Amino acid sequence: MIEVKHLSVTYNARSKSAANAVKDISFALRENSFCGLIGESGSGKSSVVMTMLGLMPNGGEARGSILYRGHEILGAPEKEMLALRQRRLSLIPQGAMNSFTPVMTIGRQMREVIMLHMGATASEAERKSAELLEEAELPASAAARYPHELSGGQKQRAAIAMALSCSPEALLADEPTTALDVVTQAAIIRLLERLRREKNLTVLLVTHDLPMAASACEELLVMKDGEIVERGESKRLISSPENEHTKALVAAMLRNERP
Ligand SMILES: Nc1ncnc2c1ncn2[C@@H]1O[C@H](COP(=O)(O)OP(=O)(O)O)[C@@H](O)[C@H]1O
Ligand SMILES: [Mg+2]
Repeated sequence: MIEVKHLSVTYNARSKSAANAVKDISFALRENSFCGLIGESGSGKSSVVMTMLGLMPNGGEARGSILYRGHEILGAPEKEMLALRQRRLSLIPQGAMNSFTPVMTIGRQMREVIMLHMGATASEAERKSAELLEEAELPASAAARYPHELSGGQKQRAAIAMALSCSPEALLADEPTTALDVVTQAAIIRLLERLRREKNLTVLLVTHDLPMAASACEELLVMKDGEIVERGESKRLISSPENEHTKALVAAMLRNERP
């Protein structure tokens, strides 16, 4: 569905502080797959995801190719990328749960997005947002709540509901469980798994958490310093990592799991 080929991302290319955040990486996201992009903070994960959606910050430059269903989208006009983000490839940005406006109820924020992007009427948007909250396993009453009245996990569920509002094909979730407690993290991952199954979604889970990604994803891409150092089926990668960095991550994971 998406093929990333020889992608490099550089920030401030013309200044002395030029930094290659992503270095010539290639990978493919298959339809209906649940793939994990893992790596330590600063390894370039968010740069990859933002570039895939045409959301590179100022000062960022990308080279290479990103094909969506065979069609080049790297450098595509903003109008095309906007349509793609709204209807096909939905992003749950890093920190999404904290990006709700504090002065509006969750339901109102969802209805506004649905009306704007789907051209829905107020009553259609009301119905759709209730449906989405239910799909994200939130009580209908969550619609009437302000963001500060919800727990972290509930806010993340609302962010996921919001990301699903235009029935996307793929969900790119950037650190969706960071800052949540372990039990809530697991619940959010189960929610993503269920939504993926029921809606035939393609999910790219971006995280620094190897154990979590390994338990949820079929396939893992391991990034370090802007490069993909190892990739493969989760089980294989955990049982017999080949790259030194992956070996270290797996060793740390096994140490922590010991009772
Ligand atoms: N807007 C930016 N301007 C300059 N450098 C950036 C910017 N965003 C990220 N970087 C740098 O790019 C590298 C990768 O960052 P990022 O993609 O956010 O990694 P991750 O998501 O894995 O933590 C880091 O060294 C970071 O400092
Ligand atoms: Mg990041």
